Amino acid sequence: PVLVVDYGAQYAQLIARRVRDARVYSEIVPHSMPVAEMLARNPAAIILSGGPASVYAEGAPTTDPALFEAGVPVFGICYGFQAMTVALGGTVESTGRREFGGTPLSVSEPGALFAGLPAAQSVWMSHNDSVTKAPEGFTATASSAGAAVAAFEDRDRRLAGVQFHPEVAHTPHGQAVLRHFLYEIAGIAPTWTMSNVIEEQVAAIRETVGDKQVLCALSGGVDSAVAAALVHRAIGDQLTCVFVDHGLLRAGEAEQVETDYVASTGIKLKVYDAAEQFLSELAGVTEPETKRKIIGREFIRLFEQAARDLEAENHIDFLVQGTLYPDVVESGGGTGTANIKSHHNVGGLPDDLKFTLIEPLRTLFKDEVRRLGLELGLPEAMVYRQPFPGPGLAIRIIGEVTAHRLEILRAADAIARAELTAAGLDRSVWQFPVVLLADVRSVGVQGDGRTYGHPVVLRPVSSEDAMTADWSRLPYDLLAKISTRITNEVEDVNRVTLDITSKPPGTIEWE
Ligand code: XMP
Repeated sequence: PVLVVDYGAQYAQLIARRVRDARVYSEIVPHSMPVAEMLARNPAAIILSGGPASVYAEGAPTTDPALFEAGVPVFGICYGFQAMTVALGGTVESTGRREFGGTPLSVSEPGALFAGLPAAQSVWMSHNDSVTKAPEGFTATASSAGAAVAAFEDRDRRLAGVQFHPEVAHTPHGQAVLRHFLYEIAGIAPTWTMSNVIEEQVAAIRETVGDKQVLCALSGGVDSAVAAALVHRAIGDQLTCVFVDHGLLRAGEAEQVETDYVASTGIKLKVYDAAEQFLSELAGVTEPETKRKIIGREFIRLFEQAARDLEAENHIDFLVQGTLYPDVVESGGGTGTANIKSHHNVGGLPDDLKFTLIEPLRTLFKDEVRRLGLELGLPEAMVYRQPFPGPGLAIRIIGEVTAHRLEILRAADAIARAELTAAGLDRSVWQFPVVLLADVRSVGVQGDGRTYGHPVVLRPVSSEDAMTADWSRLPYDLLAKISTRITNEVEDVNRVTLDITSKPPGTIEWE
């Protein structure tokens, strides 16, 4: 792999993704990892990421010069560029000329990094200190007003660095610079593709599972669907999937799992229709956290039941989970090459049900999981499904959840989704909750009569990771069409409103 050394800024994941966009496999490692341990992973190259600190700040992470003596290609970015300069005997100074944001760069010599790129270009900068003298053996190839040396390279030793951030979209030629490092300086071939990933994972899963039995819970979401399809590709009918239908999904979603998914994968699926059980447990409950707790508890209870039913037929050793790479990085876990981790008590399951986890997506980012899903033959509608909360529509009905209210919300939600898709905006909008204010009524007029119905709220948001979000500026014509259709077609709804709150202070969901 290419190792991306994380100096604690938010850029390491982005760099790792850009490297993969160049079809080269990458993994993130913490800067505290000893050089010997990095080298033990046999890296094709090492990229030092940006970081928040000045290289002269107290406690600033340093870079072990041994890193540059191992013959492994190294690329320093921003903080990594400066740390590399210091480690190799160049000069970093606080010149008082900081640069933040879009900055003109002038290339004095294209070298390998800027080959074929314009001599004057805009790059994204974020630095206080700057490199004033490149280390010995390096050619300085570019500068900006605030950075006397903004890029350098030493082709013999296969070392290079840039002051700017090539990984962000605001650096238009950044991806080209990164590719030049990977292909030209480090000499890596772009061979990492989703079909390679499938091949590798299939072999690893077969090896691990042998002739044992595997269980997977499908949620209706993308991650569990792709994880199960991949495991199925490896071991066929040794995998059994369980789908607990809690009756809180949107229109067509349970059918998508029960019919489309099975048709496209051939997976063995057991469906537990538990809609009535969930509704009766939720009766009279209005408090959001209580709703969530009840749904979580019932879900575990049913899944346990399913696992026991299957155990009675066949002993089960493994459980598939759709864990993704960002969760692995954020929980500080290394990736290694292993896609398997041992766990005895999974997500609240009782002690006598012991499974080993199989997590075939734990090295992948979300967009890669989607591509993998398509490659495995899953329907586009499933692969590009927007995120949807586990407790489902129950937390989008403000007030008690009843069968009738679910019907109303499902109908309104289906219209909003269909129109968003028809307008070609479903992939650019992160999520589009429709919320039913079931305990609120307002006066309206329809035909010749006065109505006294419920409002629904449209909550379209754009986001990168759901941690922060902004409300999506949907075209007025689209909003008008959704509003007209919902009030005309959905019984009991006589008003449509738009939520224009960002997150923070609002959350994406209303409960
Ligand atoms: P909020 O409402 O906190 O939501 O801004 C952030 C993201 O998380 C989703 N969400 C959930 N997902 N189980 C889930 O699997 C849950 O209980 C849950 N609650 C919120 C929400 O849809 C958004 O994407």
